[in-house]
Amino acid sequence: MSFNIAIDGPAGAGKSTIAKRAAKELSFIYVDTGAMYRAIALGLMRSDTEIEDERLLEQALAGIEVTIDYRDGVQQVYLNGENVSGLIRTEEVSAMTSACAAKPQVRAKLTDLQRDLARRENVLMDGRDIGTAILPDAQLKIYLTASVRTRAERRYKELLERGENCSLAEIEKEIGERDYRDMHRETAPLKQAEDAVLVDSSDMTIEEVTARIIQLARERMERGYGA
Ligand code: CDP
Repeated sequence: MSFNIAIDGPAGAGKSTIAKRAAKELSFIYVDTGAMYRAIALGLMRSDTEIEDERLLEQALAGIEVTIDYRDGVQQVYLNGENVSGLIRTEEVSAMTSACAAKPQVRAKLTDLQRDLARRENVLMDGRDIGTAILPDAQLKIYLTASVRTRAERRYKELLERGENCSLAEIEKEIGERDYRDMHRETAPLKQAEDAVLVDSSDMTIEEVTARIIQLARERMERGYGA
């Protein structure tokens, strides 16, 4: 039986950086579900699909296939066979992703892919609904959050380092809107699972949060959960 770790939380809480490091240390496979939603959003943007029209959305989704694999241990995401990993991190795609991710048809498309991976391997999976909807039986669930201000500052630095032009106020607004949409949608909204451990990273370094997650995982594995 595989051991599954679910990490959920809002944008910019540090999930992907921390999840990548913790997975490496634990020799788990890191699954970035956000990248899968982003790839679908890119597909819908490219086909200029009016996502509020159910029929058009379903038609477009039928022509979209998302797959992942790993290159040197790093997850790559493919849209109909094209590696789009480098194209999905823009603010435009982020905003479109959270609108698309509210659609049940979009979520249904990724559920089996995510569950299959978790059944076969020891995974550390991050997203919004992993502990609540995708892997309700995960042996360890973390809800990772931080204040909106801290999260906006982190994202701002990240974008500046990547050479993208941006303003802190705009990012704070964008993050606030995305959180609201993710938390208030009807299908699989972002919320802390009852049995998740809450980690607030506002005053913690990446190293501290990573160490905490590794410690929790090791404790649970020693207690005999999972493989
Ligand atoms: O890295 P960041 O937290 O900004 O975003 P992400 O994890 O790549 O997710 C992008 C968007 O995809 C989120 O704002 C959600 O709307 C959506 N998402 C989701 O609905 N469910 C997931 N399991 C993962 C992402």
